[in-house]
Amino acid sequence: MSIMSPAADAPLGSPSAIYRVEDYNARASYKSSDNNGATKPSSSRPKAYTYIPVAIIGAGESGIAAACQLKEQVGGFDQFRVFDRQAGVGGTWWINRYPGVACDIPALFYSFSFAQNPSWSSDCPPGSEIFDYLNRVCSRYRIVDKIQLNTDVIGCVWLEDEQVWELELRHLVQGMGDLSVRDRRKVIEEQGEAAVFCGSEVVRAKVVLSCVGGLVEPRGWPDEIPGEKSFQGSIFHSARWNYDVDLKDKNVIVVGTGCSAAQFVPHLTKSLGAKRVTQIMRSPPWVVSRSRSTGEIGTWQRWEPWLFANIPGLQRTLRTLMAAALEYSLRLFQNGDWNERERKKFEARLLKNMKKTAPEKYHEILTPDYGVGCKRRIYDFEWLPGLQDERLELTTQPLTSVDEWSVTIGPGRTYPPMSETESKAPTEKRSIPADVIILANGFEATRWLHPLKVTGRAGNDLVEEMDARGGPQAYLGTAMDGFPNFFIVFGPNTATGHTSAILASENMVAHALRFVKPILHGDVDTVEIKKEAEIEYTRDIQESLKNTVWMSGGCSSYYFDRETRWNSTMYPYTQIWFTQRCMYTRKGLIKLFLWKGIRALGDGWLAGLWAQTGLFLQQVVGVGKLVAGPWRRP
Ligand SMILES: Cc1cc2nc3c(=O)[nH]c(=O)nc-3n(C[C@H](O)[C@H](O)[C@H](O)COP(=O)(O)OP(=O)(O)OC[C@H]3O[C@@H](n4cnc5c(N)ncnc54)[C@H](O)[C@@H]3O)c2cc1C
Ligand SMILES: NC(=O)c1ccc[n+]([C@@H]2O[C@H](COP(=O)([O-])OP(=O)(O)OC[C@H]3O[C@@H](n4cnc5c(N)ncnc54)[C@H](OP(=O)(O)O)[C@@H]3O)[C@@H](O)[C@H]2O)c1
Repeated sequence: MSIMSPAADAPLGSPSAIYRVEDYNARASYKSSDNNGATKPSSSRPKAYTYIPVAIIGAGESGIAAACQLKEQVGGFDQFRVFDRQAGVGGTWWINRYPGVACDIPALFYSFSFAQNPSWSSDCPPGSEIFDYLNRVCSRYRIVDKIQLNTDVIGCVWLEDEQVWELELRHLVQGMGDLSVRDRRKVIEEQGEAAVFCGSEVVRAKVVLSCVGGLVEPRGWPDEIPGEKSFQGSIFHSARWNYDVDLKDKNVIVVGTGCSAAQFVPHLTKSLGAKRVTQIMRSPPWVVSRSRSTGEIGTWQRWEPWLFANIPGLQRTLRTLMAAALEYSLRLFQNGDWNERERKKFEARLLKNMKKTAPEKYHEILTPDYGVGCKRRIYDFEWLPGLQDERLELTTQPLTSVDEWSVTIGPGRTYPPMSETESKAPTEKRSIPADVIILANGFEATRWLHPLKVTGRAGNDLVEEMDARGGPQAYLGTAMDGFPNFFIVFGPNTATGHTSAILASENMVAHALRFVKPILHGDVDTVEIKKEAEIEYTRDIQESLKNTVWMSGGCSSYYFDRETRWNSTMYPYTQIWFTQRCMYTRKGLIKLFLWKGIRALGDGWLAGLWAQTGLFLQQVVGVGKLVAGPWRRP
């Protein structure tokens, strides 16, 4: 086996600095690994397969970004396929269709740098508009015919002999991929496999880009609450809204007070005509109130397209300013005296606003006892003011059981804790009529890759390998050693609590493509992160996370595992830093400024200054391109 050693003067941040790069010519001397057959020799596998150089799993914004950029950056390359089990393109924005669904990071920034949209209907447009936008991007980049929907990727196995990934696909009956895994299994149990699956396929690919998302699998019915089966009404999850259930004049129970619930709860009585809504809050969220009048939206809709079309650079400038402003809010998440003071100031503002907006009877239970930012803040347009509606009750009494047409809440309450004897929040057991229960209890966010099994070079399972090292992890959230030519977009520790997830995706796509390009150009055969780089990266991330409000703010959230306290979700540094790291290694960055600069200094101070300025500008342009977008249009 021959591995190209990092050349002494390899370009900084080039694959060989942190990645093991396997030469095509070395393949002959490559031995298949002895791994108890986990990486099966190709002879024992079905012969019929389709070869595609690149397979992308997931057609959400990350998969779309990967496909568009692959095409754009590899000279119109189109030998790839994008697989998604859902029946439509858009991931999150296809499946979350609850009333009021919208983005909360302004769409001006929650959109691709390479495909900006000058005509959003408002700052935080509805989900359907984001869905349309994503579909338009697919058309514009001509990737629609590359997307294969209703296709579940069950597993990926690295075939050492052939140096390719083998993907096992199952074709789903139209719409079955929109069900949660749990519901799909139920259909199989009740109606048999043929009701869910209608075919299978084997595909081999040189490169796999996993863009499977993190907020995909809705949490199921809470195990601790008995009676689900006896309930005669309807139960559904906010991420699988059932529009066949008419809520008019119905008694509705909502479990949860996260971002999803805050968006749909005001609609239940207002536009859907529910008779009574009881919303069960386990612990209060921090709520950042926003307001916009119909007039403001009208003005935006009238002027924004004209302004963006006629004032050159305005959209890019606003986008950059927005990115900078959001980046500043990272100060709220870190620990330190100044950060603590900033948090306290912000909390005071939020509490003042909550007290101005929500009915007085809820002020106590709506006052969190943990630091702001510890779990995701709610950016709210309607929820707090909507609590004034007498048909709506917010309670911290837990759901304790469910009957045919009612639920029982209490005895006791989850907040404030029962030890707070002065509290006036109700505790006595009550039975409440119930026709519909809506679960807004979030997603299985700490289960990575949710049912996709990835088997690497040594026959090991990707998730098990991560767990064996302490918990979900990957270099830049993107790569694991032992899994060559496999890149994750939006892997562990890449979520941000403060800025656009789309920027983070674009960063990871940019990073992955730096290594995919030489593979597709035939310059190298495989690329694999070095184990020591992955371990050191994860150590640093987990160490930094300890010093953030996410871990020490006193809340419990889906960001980390309650038992192990391993935070597999958040990225602790700025997105600007993440952007830089996706372009260069950390050592590479230091070298870039010091080493090259010093070397250039040897040629005279003017040359040094010139080199440093050039390198600095190169960085600014790189970050700027990812934030504001390239000037060239497809
Ligand atoms: C209601 C809601 C609102 C949000 N609003 C914001 C916001 O305002 N700002 C923000 O920054 N973030 C927001 N987020 C977070 C959001 O998830 C991300 O912004 C982003 O959409 C994630 O995109 P993605 O492509 O990485 O993943 P997803 O959109 O989740 O797409 C992943 C896709 O992969 C598919 N898939 C997974 N596994 C397989 C498999 N094995 N085989 C085939 N297909 C598979 C899934 O079906 C899915 O379509 C929101 C999330 C939700 C739920
Ligand atoms: N653009 C947007 O505005 C927007 C909209 C929706 C979603 N999102 C994104 O999607 C993520 C998920 O949002 P989400 O609202 O769907 O889920 P979430 O933020 O995880 O909130 C889940 C809610 O359910 C509660 N809960 C969970 N299990 C419960 C149980 N067994 N009993 C009672 N209550 C329970 C949680 O209480 P605790 O808080 O006590 O745990 C929380 O209030 C967000 O964090 C955000 O990133 C964004």
